[in-house]
Amino acid sequence: MNTGSKVDVLLGMQWGDEGKGKIVDVLSPEYQIVARFQGGPNAGHTLEFDNKKFVLHTIPSGIFHPQCMNLVGNGVVIDPCILAREFIKTELPADELRKRLLFSAKAHLILPSHRLLDAALEARKGEGKIGSTLKGIGPAYTDKVARSGLRIGDLLQDNFRHKYLELQKVHLQTIHSMGYSFADFTIENLPYADYEKLWFDGLEQLSTMKIVEGELYINQAIADGKKILAEGAQGTLLDIDFGSYPFVTSSNTIAAGACTGLGLAPSKLGEVLGIFKAYCTRVGSGPFPSELLNDIGETLRKIGNEFGATTGRPRRCGWLDLPALKYATMLNGTTQLFITKVDVLNTFSRINVCIGYRYKGKEISYLPSGYAPEALEPVLQEIDGWQCDLEAINSFDELPSQLQAYIRFIEEYVNVPVVLVSTGPNRHQTLVRN
Ligand code: GDP
Ligand code: IMO
Ligand code: MG
Repeated sequence: MNTGSKVDVLLGMQWGDEGKGKIVDVLSPEYQIVARFQGGPNAGHTLEFDNKKFVLHTIPSGIFHPQCMNLVGNGVVIDPCILAREFIKTELPADELRKRLLFSAKAHLILPSHRLLDAALEARKGEGKIGSTLKGIGPAYTDKVARSGLRIGDLLQDNFRHKYLELQKVHLQTIHSMGYSFADFTIENLPYADYEKLWFDGLEQLSTMKIVEGELYINQAIADGKKILAEGAQGTLLDIDFGSYPFVTSSNTIAAGACTGLGLAPSKLGEVLGIFKAYCTRVGSGPFPSELLNDIGETLRKIGNEFGATTGRPRRCGWLDLPALKYATMLNGTTQLFITKVDVLNTFSRINVCIGYRYKGKEISYLPSGYAPEALEPVLQEIDGWQCDLEAINSFDELPSQLQAYIRFIEEYVNVPVVLVSTGPNRHQTLVRN
């Protein structure tokens, strides 16, 4: 019996920005479909090739490969205004976009008033704020779970406008009940009404795109034996259930999210490709045990150009956290690891790696839930740096011995092979291990 193909899942193993976009773009020639399964325009996935740089927020990172179909799955939340801008920034002709891009009818919409709510909720949290990207992600997923959200499929119905106004009314009432007026907030420096107009223009464009029953589409593709890659957004440590709650995003970023976010049975998942940086970064608030609040952190930020692809905020930087990486491999069933940004460490004579934590007088190798960040201290191990440029290197075996030793150390700790090394932001700066 022909059981069809399996869907490989590619996702972030840390707090996001691991280089997922670059790697999906590199792998896309091997796939016929790339499908985003969760998150929304809080994501910023950067791709570089032909001396150009693109940042994708909603569109899957296979879009620049003409043979590749790109599905935005039901698990994604979409802001039509941001999407319309993204269409233009791809520099692809509209008919080409329409050919390569599909949207699940069950994907939820982010309304302008979701963004107002996000701003009001963060403002109310004061010191305890999450550091949200303020794209309306949390409120849009809240409405989805509360069964009051609007989906792309609703666009085709006559009562769309009525449903929109009803939902907006509830949001505005909530904002008022929190002691704010909706005039207290702008969206992208625009008054609400101006942004709302752009949003409806975007919606108009979205309605001209191919809207499909995503779960039927993808399962038919599996039955036809097509090669499919599911693209995650954010990272495992921002997962709504397993991240450092409440400093997380509002979706399941782990491999299981690909099942609910695309309509896949668990038995349809194939390889799980986990992307991680040679060090760690985090944007926004929340615990970060191996964070470097010193010159070294500053150096990592500068060399690694660690500024958010979506918000431009400086990213917090720290050493690679191996217990956290191991935790991520457990949650995702990661079968292959891809390390990125090793070149950022080229000039370091010594590199540290976090191999455990000191907590309440004991050494532990897991992150306890609900711990006070100041009560936990990283246990670090020093490793030799390689102190050379990697530009001229064309294969894994040519990598400096210290970098190979660093990779082996990681593999031994987490017990998953590292099969790809990224040595720069460009497509061609990628070494696959034989
Ligand atoms: P994503 O959200 O996981 O797709 O990652 P981002 O695009 O937000 O952030 C990764 C950043 O690192 C982007 O600016 C990439 O262009 C860049 N990048 C990706 N891989 C490498 C690498 O191996 N070396 C360097 N120096 N930069 C990289
Ligand atoms: P990609 O896909 C890094 C972070 C925010 C904040 C928290 C909640 O590019 O890796 P939200 O906007 O979801 O309410 O923010 O999650 N965050 C990300 N950090 N990369 C991302 O996406 C992120 N998406 C959200 O900074 O701390
Ligand atoms: Mg990013």
